[in-house]
Amino acid sequence: MKALFFNKPGIENLIFGDYELPDMREDEVLVETKCIGVNPIDYYTVTGIHGENGPAMKINPYPHIAGSEISGIVKNKGERVNNTIKEGDRVIIYNRVFDGFCKYCINNHQTLCENGGMIGISRNGGFAEYIIVPQQNIIKISDELDWELASGLPIAGLTAFNAIQESGLKSKDNLVIFGGSGNTGLFCTQFGKIIDAITISLSTKPWIKEYGADYVLPIDENLKEKISEITDGAMADVVINSLGEKTWAKGMEIAGKLGKVITFGVLTGGNLFTDGRLLYNKQITIKGTTGGSVESLLNLIEMAKGQNISTRIWKRYSLEDSRIAIEKVFDKNKEGRIIIENY
Ligand SMILES: NC(=O)c1ccc[n+]([C@@H]2O[C@H](COP(=O)([O-])OP(=O)(O)OC[C@H]3O[C@@H](n4cnc5c(N)ncnc54)[C@H](OP(=O)(O)O)[C@@H]3O)[C@@H](O)[C@H]2O)c1
Ligand SMILES: [Zn+2]
Repeated sequence: MKALFFNKPGIENLIFGDYELPDMREDEVLVETKCIGVNPIDYYTVTGIHGENGPAMKINPYPHIAGSEISGIVKNKGERVNNTIKEGDRVIIYNRVFDGFCKYCINNHQTLCENGGMIGISRNGGFAEYIIVPQQNIIKISDELDWELASGLPIAGLTAFNAIQESGLKSKDNLVIFGGSGNTGLFCTQFGKIIDAITISLSTKPWIKEYGADYVLPIDENLKEKISEITDGAMADVVINSLGEKTWAKGMEIAGKLGKVITFGVLTGGNLFTDGRLLYNKQITIKGTTGGSVESLLNLIEMAKGQNISTRIWKRYSLEDSRIAIEKVFDKNKEGRIIIENY
C-alpha cells in the first residue's frame, strides 16, 4: 500500500511510498482510510519530541506511519472478530491502545491503561491507504455523519468533550477557552454553547462567533479587565487552557472563586508556573485530562447526530501530500482543521 512513513524522526525524513502491510491478527480489523485529521501529536511523533523542550517520543515500529485521528471503511477482519463488525462498515478509530483489563481500563479510563499506547505512536497510524487495528478500537458511525466531522471526533472532539465534562460546566457558567480556533478549541466552544454557558473564546480569529462563541478576545494585557467586565467581576467558572507555559499564569488570573482550570496539553512548554496565592485564595481546582473513554466517544457520536456540531476545515491534502499537511500544523495563519483525504 502507499503510505507516508519515516525510518528515523524528522519531517525531512518522511517518505511517501510503498509500505508492506503486516499480517493481520485474528482479533484485528483492516480499515481503508477515508479522512484523517492532522493534530499537534502527529507533528510530535514525526519529529520524535513531545513539544517544546519536551521528552523524546517512544515510537514503534520502524519504519513508522504516524496519524492518530482516523476514519474509514472496514475492508477485512480476523477470524475472532465480533459479528457486529462487517466489511463495508463506516468507522472511526478510537486512538488509544488499551488492554481492557487493568485497574484503569475496568474503571473506564482506557487512556490511563497500564499496558497502553496510542495508535500512530506505539503502533502504526493512519497516514496510509490502510490501517490494521484491534477490534476494540473500531467504533461504528452512521451514514449521516460526514467524513470530515467524523475524522475530527477521536482526538479533537473527544478530548474537548471529556475536558468539558470533567470541568462540571453548568448552564450560565462563564467558560473561557484558550486557543479557541484550534482543533480542540472549536469543539470546546460548541460544547460550551450546548450546555448554555457564557462562552468566551480567546483567539485572533473572529469567525469563532459563527460556532457559538459569545465573545472572542485576544490574549493581551487587557484580558483580565475584559473578562471582569463580561462576567460582572465574577471571572471564569471554567478555564480550558492547553496552551502551556506562555499563557498558564493568565489562565490562573482570570479564573474566578471556586473556578476550575483544565489542561490537556502544553503547546508552548510544560513548565506551568502557578502562583500559590491565586490557587488557595480563590480555591481554584486545577485538573489534567487526556483524551476520553470509549464510552465518552460513543456518547459524543450520539450527540453529533442530534446537536448541531460542525467542524471547520482550513486545508485538505491527498495522502501523497500529507507531509505538507504535517508541516502546516503550527502555521500561525491556521483557520481551522487540516485533513488528509483518501477518497
Ligand atoms: N491530551 C490529549 O488527549 C490531547 C488531545 C488533543 C490535543 N492535545 C494538546 O492540546 C493542545 C491544543 O491542541 P489543538 O489540536 O487544539 O491545537 P491547534 O489546533 O494547533 O490549536 C491551538 C490554537 O492555539 C492558538 N495558539 C497557538 N500557538 C499559540 C501561542 N504561542 N500563544 C497563544 N495561542 C497560541 C492558536 O489559535 P489562535 O490563532 O486562534 O489564537 C491555535 O489555533 C496541544 O498542546 C495538543 O498537543 C492534547
Ligand atoms: Zn488497561
